[in-house]
Amino acid sequence: MKKIVLTVIAVVTLFSCQSDNSETPDFAATTVAKRACASDDVLKSKMAADPNLAARMNQIEDFTQKALLTGRIVNGKIQIPVIVNVLYRTTAENISTAQIQSQIDILNEDFNAQNADFNSVPALFSGVKANVGISFVLEAIYRKATTKTSWGTADAMKSTTTGGINPTSPTSKMNLWVCTIGGGILGYAQFPGGASATDGVAIDSKYIGDTGTAVYPYNLGRTATHEVGHWMNLRHIWGDANCGSDLVSDTPTHNTSNYGVPAYPHYSTCSGNQVEMTMNYMDYTDDRGMYMFSNGQKSRMAAIFLSGGSRAGFRL
Ligand code: ARG
Ligand code: ZN
Ligand code: CA
Repeated sequence: MKKIVLTVIAVVTLFSCQSDNSETPDFAATTVAKRACASDDVLKSKMAADPNLAARMNQIEDFTQKALLTGRIVNGKIQIPVIVNVLYRTTAENISTAQIQSQIDILNEDFNAQNADFNSVPALFSGVKANVGISFVLEAIYRKATTKTSWGTADAMKSTTTGGINPTSPTSKMNLWVCTIGGGILGYAQFPGGASATDGVAIDSKYIGDTGTAVYPYNLGRTATHEVGHWMNLRHIWGDANCGSDLVSDTPTHNTSNYGVPAYPHYSTCSGNQVEMTMNYMDYTDDRGMYMFSNGQKSRMAAIFLSGGSRAGFRL
């Protein structure tokens, strides 16, 4: 009850508008010189008529306060806390904090149209190249020495029972495992909707960041950009099938994955014969060949963070 009273006061304060001198006089307050803004009167009568309104406004206030307190929404944008879990046998695998930070910096550049090569996007795609507007903050690094030479893609690195490291708060923090994966795999991600115990992204220690152990041509941190794209629900641009669909309308249909750095323009032989967007992060080119997300991809990513979305936990 006390909380509701406090909320009503807070809400009234929130809705009280600046008195505008051009406003017509409030007839209900003829004997009082001060004018009242109608918003609070209207709110009071609506609260009297609707017993659930105060509770709903309370929830909105709770949400607002939590979002402000945890700082996860910065300038109206989502900020993702990142937990990095390093598993190493050799000293090279125990990558430096500087190398980890270089990866966080690259994610921030690539997801905010701050990458130096963003202006290399061809004019044909300049209308759809996106500033995704999601940022990343390194929150903690956990390191563990092991005897394993490679970890594979069956999530062994994500559990202490298999010698790995359990994720930290996976419904509100993005967990990144850095280890030797093996089998020519640069990295892999879990899509939204999977089990929280295995949620996150695994990146091979030779393909993370742009310094230290990072190896050409995957030495610009784009493996993580690509995998975080999957973690945010993006499919491969070729739709994992010949002329398949990536469920995004502003990306052209590709025949299949592209490698190396294709010469521009590279035409598809799928219906429409569009110029392929080989410079998209969700293709398979070398790191220096990928430098954009599209607006359609941005919308798909944003959707999972909405309230009711699969990663809504990242908002509070
Ligand atoms: N999962 C893909 C692989 O392991 C990642 C490709 C990333 N591409 C890149 N240029 N970094 O092959
Ligand atoms: Zn992929
Ligand atoms: Ca498409």
